[in-house]
Amino acid sequence: MLRSVLLSASRSDRLRQVATDAPPARAMVDRFVAGETTDDAVRATSGLVESGRLVTIDHLGEDTLDLEQAGRTRDAYLALLDALGDAGLTGSAEVSVKLSAVGQALPGDGEKIGLEYAHAIAEKADALGTTLTLDMEDHTTTDSTLGTLRELRAEFPSTGAVIQAYLHRSEADCRDLAVGGSRVRLCKGAYSEPQSVAFVDKADIDKAYVRCLKILMQGEGYPMLATHDPRLVEIGGALAIRNEREPGSYEFQMLYGVRPDEQQRLADQGDRMRVYVPYGTEWYGYLVRRLAEKPANLSLLARALVSKG
Ligand code: FDA
Repeated sequence: MLRSVLLSASRSDRLRQVATDAPPARAMVDRFVAGETTDDAVRATSGLVESGRLVTIDHLGEDTLDLEQAGRTRDAYLALLDALGDAGLTGSAEVSVKLSAVGQALPGDGEKIGLEYAHAIAEKADALGTTLTLDMEDHTTTDSTLGTLRELRAEFPSTGAVIQAYLHRSEADCRDLAVGGSRVRLCKGAYSEPQSVAFVDKADIDKAYVRCLKILMQGEGYPMLATHDPRLVEIGGALAIRNEREPGSYEFQMLYGVRPDEQQRLADQGDRMRVYVPYGTEWYGYLVRRLAEKPANLSLLARALVSKG
């Protein structure tokens, strides 16, 4: 119930405005977001890489209905990639892109613009020796995003996909994507979805995650296990052994600010561990989804409001 209220709030323009103007929210933002500027993102990346972790960087923003804004987001990614190149970090850091931030949600030819802008990012990433992963948004965009993925992979085969285990369709999508050279990030799914398309019960979502993971681990591709769930991390490790996967033929991924000690433990024991680092000013939707995943985070926010407000 609380989760679905929070997930609806994540798409409210009015609440977005109120929260963005409320300085006490800063403490929460700082925990989950690496900063506002390219320099902030590069600095956070550099620290994580020094600690033995890999990074994927998200320039925050989504659901853009403004062509110029979509262009600014594309340009921010291009500048970020240049900065990563200058800092010698492209061997350890890639970028994550929400297609709705680069035009997919625009009426009319949004899908075409999303592809064109994502292509520009993929081209720059490729030239600098890194790559991108296309984040997955709500289920109405899944077909369009997988279509864009296919187009990008034809030219840039390392372009990564995200599959959300909670969708009923995802086992079939995993089968399609479990092929040589295909990078697939498997997550539980963070949006408010109807029961007609998605599992909503936590135990059902966890079981679906394991079914999808088995397909990816048995396949020829490169699975990226995006979860903080200790049971699923353990099952992932066991499936890697059972499928005789070499170290480096799969990786774990977690979000910036979530279970950092576990991130470090996995990196220290020799696993590939990648941290998803969001930065930028458009943090509202991202932050509210993090609150929905762990309502205890709400009490941190409440404490921040009481102590600073
Ligand atoms: P679960 O939510 O069950 O959490 C397991 C445990 O992890 C919790 O008990 C808690 O200890 C800890 N934890 C989890 N979330 C926390 C939080 N916010 N704050 C504090 N502790 C927390 N989703 C999507 O729909 N599209 C996408 O493209 C992506 N991309 C993506 C990339 C990466 C690298 C990650 C790690 C996740 C995503 N997600 C995503 C989000 C994903 O779908 C999911 O909502 C979160 O990862 C939470 O699910 P868990 O698997 O961690 O399990």
